[in-house]
Amino acid sequence: MTICEPTRLLVTGGAGFIGSNFVHWVATHHPEVKMVVLDKLTYAGNLANLDGVPEEQLTFVQGDICDEALVDELMASVDAVVHFAAESHNDNSIADPAPFVRTNVEGTFTLLEAARRHGTRFHHISTDEVYGDLALDDPARFTEETPYHPSSPYSSTKAASDMLVRAWHRTYGVNATISNCSNNYGPRQHIEKFIPRQITNILAGIRPKLYGDGLNVRDWIHVDDHSSAVWAILTQGQAGETYLIGADGERDNRTVMADILTAMGQESDAFDWVRDRPGHDRRYAIDSTKLRRELGWEPTHQDFSEGLADTIRWYQENEAWWQDAKAATEQKYQKLGQ
Ligand code: NAD
Ligand code: DAU
Repeated sequence: MTICEPTRLLVTGGAGFIGSNFVHWVATHHPEVKMVVLDKLTYAGNLANLDGVPEEQLTFVQGDICDEALVDELMASVDAVVHFAAESHNDNSIADPAPFVRTNVEGTFTLLEAARRHGTRFHHISTDEVYGDLALDDPARFTEETPYHPSSPYSSTKAASDMLVRAWHRTYGVNATISNCSNNYGPRQHIEKFIPRQITNILAGIRPKLYGDGLNVRDWIHVDDHSSAVWAILTQGQAGETYLIGADGERDNRTVMADILTAMGQESDAFDWVRDRPGHDRRYAIDSTKLRRELGWEPTHQDFSEGLADTIRWYQENEAWWQDAKAATEQKYQKLGQ
């Protein structure tokens, strides 16, 4: 059952990693849909991420999701919003949590208030990290019923934003859905994140860095599978419902590190062990049965080696995209001992 047929979409954070991949995905699969991207262009946003999206389909607005007047004006011009904008990196949130509270909590509040005023369909992008972590030997995976138990300043602000969305649906009847996805990989991911950091380290002649004992597990999903899931939820999801997005991609960090090194022609142990992340979540794992059963979604990029090889190729072919940020990113990590 289709409950939303968007013709004009507001995409917050559409110049970041997942938001820009979603905009490209919509441009390819739904060329009739117009998109307005609202993005502050923080260190994580890059206008070049939107290169190639047809001009007639895209309006770009540089601005802050906490700017009430701007958000109100844009919300009045669309029939649905997909809210990706966030401060997204755990290590940054540990070093300086303030922007996380502002953007992730206050920004979501500002958008919800505007959606309430204008009756706009609202899809909120969240993370599996709101559920905390699982033990390595626990057979369980996260489901929509798992209690919230966030560990880091980042995940606690995402949990807070999810709670606002739930309350605005129940109290004010905002037509809202939430998705909580696992770790994404693919092109255009900021080089502070695990996979692109190691790829660009190797390309720049720096030894890759592995935190702690390297046994932490993440549940990897290709960013295009995240986009198709978000579209399914936006158009067919039930108001007030939460859907977990995952593609059965559990891998420990040591294995992913070895995969990257081997795929790039290096010895699988040619990396440095570095200081662990404080409060480092042990394992994430998603059970996406509800999304698959109720909305018929299936991932189509489940060959991790193939997706990783494509991702490595993208960073090799787009050195100009990451080169400027590399020194500053590594300096930031050096200060943290990571
Ligand atoms: P990102 O850091 O690559 O991009 C975030 C974007 O938001 C950037 O373009 C940035 O400029 C913009 N932004 C930040 N603050 C803003 C503000 N105040 N106003 C307007 N724009 C602002 O993040 P990402 O990895 O693409 O994550 C996108 C969303 O997906 C986030 O909500 C994140 O919590 C969620 N998520 C990420 C993952 C993952 O693996 N990366 C997994 C699950 C969920
Ligand atoms: O689970 C979804 C989350 O995935 C999203 O909500 C976050 O926005 C996204 O950043 C990601 O969070 P993680 O903290 O899991 O991702 P990150 O890429 O920072 O790290 C992945 C794992 O790799 C984690 O266990 C820490 C480890 N790591 C990370 C870096 C940057 C290393 O071992 N070395 C590194 O250099």
